[in-house]
Amino acid sequence: MAETESFRLPANVSPRRYQIELRPDLIRSRFEGTVTVSFDLLAGTTRLVLNAAELDLSEARVETPDGASLTGEISVSGPEQRASISLPVDLAPGEGYQLHLRFSGALNHHLQGFYRSTYRDDEGLERVIATTQFEPTDARRAFPCWDEPALKATFAVSLVVDNGLTALSNGPVVSVEDLGDGSRRITFEETMTMSTYLVAFVVGPFEMTPPRHIDGIPLRIAAVPGRMPLTGFALEAAEHALRFLSGYFEIPYPGRKMDHVAIPDFSSGAMENLGCVTYRENALLADTDAASQVELQRIATVIAHETAHMWFGDLVTMRWWDGVWLKEAFATFMELTTTDAFNPEWQVWTAFGTAKSAALGTDGLKTTRPVVFEVGRPEEAEAMFDVLTYQKGGAVLRMLEQYLGPETFRKGISHYLTAHAYGNTETRDLWAALEAVSGEPVGNIMDSWIAQGGFPIVSVHAGPDRSTVVLHQRRFLYDGSETDERWSVPINLRMSVDGVVQRHRVLLDEESVELAVDGPVDWVVANDGSWGFYRVRYSAPMWQRLQQAGVEDVMDPFERLSLVSDSWAAVVAGLQDISDWVSIVGSLGEDRDADVWGAINSVFALLSLVADENDRDALQSFVRKTARPVWAQLGWTPVPGEPSRAATARARVLESLALIGADPEAAEQAVDRFRTFVTTGQALPPDLVSCAARVTVARDGDAGWQTVFAQYKGASTPQDRVRYLFALSESPDPSTLRRTLDLVLSLEVRTQDAPFLISAVMRNRHGATIAWEWLESHWEELGSRFSAALLARAFDGIPLVVDPGLAGAIHRFCAAHEVPLAGPRLDQLLERMDINVGLAARLRGTLTAVFDG
Ligand code: BES
Ligand code: ZN
Repeated sequence: MAETESFRLPANVSPRRYQIELRPDLIRSRFEGTVTVSFDLLAGTTRLVLNAAELDLSEARVETPDGASLTGEISVSGPEQRASISLPVDLAPGEGYQLHLRFSGALNHHLQGFYRSTYRDDEGLERVIATTQFEPTDARRAFPCWDEPALKATFAVSLVVDNGLTALSNGPVVSVEDLGDGSRRITFEETMTMSTYLVAFVVGPFEMTPPRHIDGIPLRIAAVPGRMPLTGFALEAAEHALRFLSGYFEIPYPGRKMDHVAIPDFSSGAMENLGCVTYRENALLADTDAASQVELQRIATVIAHETAHMWFGDLVTMRWWDGVWLKEAFATFMELTTTDAFNPEWQVWTAFGTAKSAALGTDGLKTTRPVVFEVGRPEEAEAMFDVLTYQKGGAVLRMLEQYLGPETFRKGISHYLTAHAYGNTETRDLWAALEAVSGEPVGNIMDSWIAQGGFPIVSVHAGPDRSTVVLHQRRFLYDGSETDERWSVPINLRMSVDGVVQRHRVLLDEESVELAVDGPVDWVVANDGSWGFYRVRYSAPMWQRLQQAGVEDVMDPFERLSLVSDSWAAVVAGLQDISDWVSIVGSLGEDRDADVWGAINSVFALLSLVADENDRDALQSFVRKTARPVWAQLGWTPVPGEPSRAATARARVLESLALIGADPEAAEQAVDRFRTFVTTGQALPPDLVSCAARVTVARDGDAGWQTVFAQYKGASTPQDRVRYLFALSESPDPSTLRRTLDLVLSLEVRTQDAPFLISAVMRNRHGATIAWEWLESHWEELGSRFSAALLARAFDGIPLVVDPGLAGAIHRFCAAHEVPLAGPRLDQLLERMDINVGLAARLRGTLTAVFDG
């Protein structure tokens, strides 16, 4: 294996401008191209080293600033993804060099680089699209380039395509030339100075909405033919995002046009190519009448996220992949701020509580990593796009925003973006901008969250006579071990003193702090608004006082969600007994908040994996007992004018009752209503369709599976496709589950979705072993069909494995095979699995006593 350093390019070349011409052949799945790179040479050399992967380079020529033309000799190194051009003479340092290269390659089916995507048109004929996904390190698969984010240049692109096909790239079209052979050369306006990973080409039979002009910028939604009726919602959300964000940053949009393009085969969710953002279809297109609130919310959020990248990432870019949080965490923060303004009813910041809990879940592992983390190899760059970069990063930014105040924070980032426009940054540049505007020691506070892994658990108790509040921090680790790391914890406290609610702001940067209060405290909420990236543990008396005050009255939904999540984490870490968690759920009464239910459901789901046959009845009847009174209020039918969150709550409570709690009446109704829905389109609101389909597969045997599969095949929206596909993982029957798994390698399921199906089956308590054995026995085939990035998703189910025998098999397999999880990611999945195996061993056989008690 090549050394890490050999993945970095020598620092002697500064590329200025790429002139690229590509001729994709959609039928033969190949492309040919030429590139002319204008560059400056910073140090003399006889050899130019740049990136290229799976390209045939056939010609290399250098023009020197004084007009000499030199033929270069090409050699490539596959493992290092580099090409070297050796020249007959020494090139002197200077400006104004040009390198010409001719090359060709294959349009691959791995959804990376320059790749092939297909769809069936109305006549059932397969049509081909050529499209790109370059981030982090795959621009080098489409054209030879200096493929590092700090080596910014401008890009002048021409695409030669068959008449009748649409071609899109980052800039607007400036000329179209008929070549007289059935093809056209389409030339795009040269881009701003930007990184290679942001270049995009899309060629195919696309349709486009008529442009909307937002402050002079034409905005369009593009998709394959027939999808135009599904673009209305995206157009609204995209217009809002562009306006909102240019106002928030106080910087005009840096591109010249803005296209949002739905691609039928797409590896991640979406990609922020400047002016040519690409998406999975279900992240952009929807039928607003048939989509659930969660599905629509996701579309608005993804659009806002990618639009925020036009500034955070495209205009100002991290110097290297170790700092990718500088754009991804910000895009996460901005997606929420923007979507909250777009539709405040959704309360997306509360929904973010689930994501924050997931980040705390990974960050409580010994194998966690700091947010800024060393990257060398391409797969290590890829591995950075995880819950720590996005969700922990986004959460600590929110914590800082709430601590500094939203307006100060906004001014600080506007200052940062202005100061570094068209440039590259490191984390300290962000701190400097925020310090300049706020006058606070931002770097000192934030380094403990960004440069160090993990987070603290803050415990709270009252001093003598309840005249002080004592806060104490230590690292939270699931294995219960103690360490001496400390954080600068910006704490917002809310407390009631003598019946009056007050708020305090404290920076806990010692091990503990004692706060004097002007009277006996009644109760304390130690993470006001729940913005802090830490967990809270109340002393028994403090918890009792909260309970007496009424948790539902005193705490907002995000705080209640965190209460459920923190106390469950304390159970897993052995800090408290499961009966304490049960009493907390009890104290929530008939909580009707969608996200609080989400947090409760995830624990119920884990417990139902843990429960053995003796415990199952007690667990299920507790789940039903918790869900029933809430379901009685929400019911099957939306109340006209109800808040949109009620629709989501209804779905989550039904999931508890019918799926996890196996309530016979609710489950039977779900199956009945799903049948009616399939034949008449009636009887189910959009938010309940997914749950009803899952119950149908779980309860209705082969007939249920066939019904849902037929719906999948006939799906007319991208939402329907994923709802029905993943519902197929719910069967309790081994042979039916194997049939579901066999879809992974069939032509029935798109590459982009298939690996997720494996992890979905793994999360089914009847499916874990079956899915894992299936994966082992199809390992070679999986490796050739899926890119590493996609195959990684098949492993997402590992943390929920609770059977020690299966866990042993997974450890052995991962030790003996090259699994596509770089950096600490595999270790994190395995550690979570081991923790849950340990938890299951502790709990199994005790649940009846806990839930009947
Ligand atoms: N820059 C990413 C796309 C990406 C992800 C590139 C992983 C390379 C590797 C994009 O901005 C992004 O974050 N997409 C998210 C969706 C977003 C709303 C969280 C995704 O793809 O999941
Ligand atoms: Zn992003």
